Amino acid sequence: MATTLSIIKADVGSIGGHIRPSERLIQVVGDYVTTKGKGIISDFFLSHTGDDIALLFSHSRGKGDGNVHQLAWEAFVAGTQVAKEQGLYGAGQDLLKDSFSGNVRGMGPAVAEMEFEERPNEPFLFFAADKTDPGAYNLPLYLAFTDPMYNSGLMLSPSMNRGFRFVLMDVEYTKGDRIIELNAPEETYDIAALLRDNQRFVVESIFSRNTGDISVSVSTTRLHNIAGKYTGKDDPVMLVRVQGTFPATGEVLAPYSIGHFVAGFMRGSHTGPLMPVKMNSGISFFDGPPVVCCLGFCVHKGKFTEPADVFDHPYWDYIRSRVSRKATEMRAQGFSGAAMLPYSELEYGGIVEKMKILDQRFKVRGEI
Ligand code: 13P
Ligand code: 13P
Ligand code: MG
Ligand code: MG
Ligand code: MG
Repeated sequence: MATTLSIIKADVGSIGGHIRPSERLIQVVGDYVTTKGKGIISDFFLSHTGDDIALLFSHSRGKGDGNVHQLAWEAFVAGTQVAKEQGLYGAGQDLLKDSFSGNVRGMGPAVAEMEFEERPNEPFLFFAADKTDPGAYNLPLYLAFTDPMYNSGLMLSPSMNRGFRFVLMDVEYTKGDRIIELNAPEETYDIAALLRDNQRFVVESIFSRNTGDISVSVSTTRLHNIAGKYTGKDDPVMLVRVQGTFPATGEVLAPYSIGHFVAGFMRGSHTGPLMPVKMNSGISFFDGPPVVCCLGFCVHKGKFTEPADVFDHPYWDYIRSRVSRKATEMRAQGFSGAAMLPYSELEYGGIVEKMKILDQRFKVRGEI
């Protein structure tokens, strides 16, 4: 029987601003899923990254299943109730619709799902990022799946010799899912040409060309497309099956040593380096820096092992120091130039009103 993995993630309220959810909120969401999930899911794991709580489910109901999505939605509604009772900031922030209607896609929460026949050993990685958007995964995925400088298996492992098929989505398109399929290695330059634009084109999924099997699934939510205004950052989640015909775990992780600059940080309006952090980390400096957490699991007959917290290792302490330095360097220039996102990314926020007023005060010299 095929196994489905679903990550459904939302920010339903947090302590001290956009820092982290409360223990009680997490407890209530977990208890809800434990009680109401019987007969729907095989297993689940609950964690938070910054102010976002992520439910990782395994089940056998396929992608986009109404029961699984409803379970997550109602657990988040229960969490929102706690957030209100405790006076948490941003209670129900990512629940953008009043009532559940079949599927949480397009309702605010981020979703990444995949269905596959379990291998005899089935290692996979759970990623959750906060204070950034889905394009944050573009560069790490490009390097891990196309570049032998990061993925030595592209040279050493015959099981990856045919490369990978990338499915990219145009996330600015709002009338449906506008996608393109491109093959690495032949079309690597085309993949790069699109993935350089993190705000418009994002990796949705990646498949092995040796077997056709899915390796990667990324959440592609753009909250402003749903809400029409700024309602927080998209804070993407991702699933990556690893080893065998896919990259090894270490190859998928290697690009996170760069601490590349991504969109997000304070008010979702700035540029900051992506910091790899431990499970259940909070947020701090300038509502950031943007963070990413990664947990390794194995799944067998729908049951998870405990997580291996892959960024909880002395190597990543060194990277975190370097990323802190990059964040400090960028923040030193405040609002200027590359430190802030272009107007096109801010036009869902309050700056629109200010620009309208200022526009009327402009005069062209010589004209009345
Ligand atoms: P092990 O010998 O530890 O299994 O390592 C194999 C491998 O391919 C590591 O990337
Ligand atoms: P979140 O999307 O994580 O709530 O971030 C919102 C924000 O504006 C932080 O400054
Ligand atoms: Mg928040
Ligand atoms: Mg968040
Ligand atoms: Mg958010």
